[in-house]
Amino acid sequence: MQVWAVANQKGGVGKTTTVVTLAGLLADVGYKVLLVDLDPHGSLTSYFRFDPDELEHSVYDLFEQLQVDEKRTKSLILPSSQPGIDLMPASTALATLERRAVGKEGMGLQVAKALATQKQSYDFVLIDSPPVLGVLMVNALAACNHLLVPVQTEFLALKGLQRMVRTIEMVNRARRNKLEYTIIPTFYDRRTQASVSSLRELHKRYEDNISTAVVPVDTKFRNASLKGLVPSSMDAGSRGVHAYAKLLRNLLEQRREGQANG
Ligand SMILES: Nc1ncnc2c1ncn2[C@@H]1O[C@H](COP(=O)(O)OP(=O)(O)O)[C@@H](O)[C@H]1O
Ligand SMILES: [Mg+2]
Repeated sequence: MQVWAVANQKGGVGKTTTVVTLAGLLADVGYKVLLVDLDPHGSLTSYFRFDPDELEHSVYDLFEQLQVDEKRTKSLILPSSQPGIDLMPASTALATLERRAVGKEGMGLQVAKALATQKQSYDFVLIDSPPVLGVLMVNALAACNHLLVPVQTEFLALKGLQRMVRTIEMVNRARRNKLEYTIIPTFYDRRTQASVSSLRELHKRYEDNISTAVVPVDTKFRNASLKGLVPSSMDAGSRGVHAYAKLLRNLLEQRREGQANG
């Protein structure tokens, strides 16, 4: 089971879209996918037409008691409308967690522990994380074996990215095996100078971690979200889906190389 987290300490960069689109593409080729919504806004949960205000059980339950087992974890997972994709939803109660979790030992590994109990059921887990560095993001980073960082191709976004990269470096000082990450340029519009020059800057600063797949501005993402469908099932030929398919090929290739090298 591979666990990929999608994070950036900035909202509106395409995190939830990245989770949903990759999940669709993975499910299209027959993988079993679990999505985990760690963002108190619950956009991923809402995407699949569940209401974060109404859900009685959610990922929040994992933080109510430290003991995590397979049965309890399974009871938090909902089937989505899309074949092959299940969801551990967020509820608005998650927003209270940062305050409650302060100073409590062991809270940082709750999601990792829960996912470990589901190893037999899923090929891939994709985690959507909130744009703040707190206990939820710490859980996402601790649970994943690869991190995806979508970043809008505009100059203000580069500042936010610096902050995210510093967070990764900090996490890596505490981890035994280094957390690998891939930066994904999003909202790319080759007709604008801001997109072109910030993409160039991204390549210069982060040449080892930048994805060669660049996600263009594509209104079809919004259309898909309005319908609650993964983008590939709505329009598999769109430019946006195409870019994510290339990203996925690269990530799977990287994973195979990683396995080959031990
Ligand atoms: N490449 C893109 N082109 C056009 N619109 C996009 C793109 N990626 C995301 N969007 C839209 O932008 C909004 C914010 O994206 P979202 O994935 O929710 O960002 P985040 O999760 O980082 O806050 C959503 O309405 C989404 O449909
Ligand atoms: Mg989001």
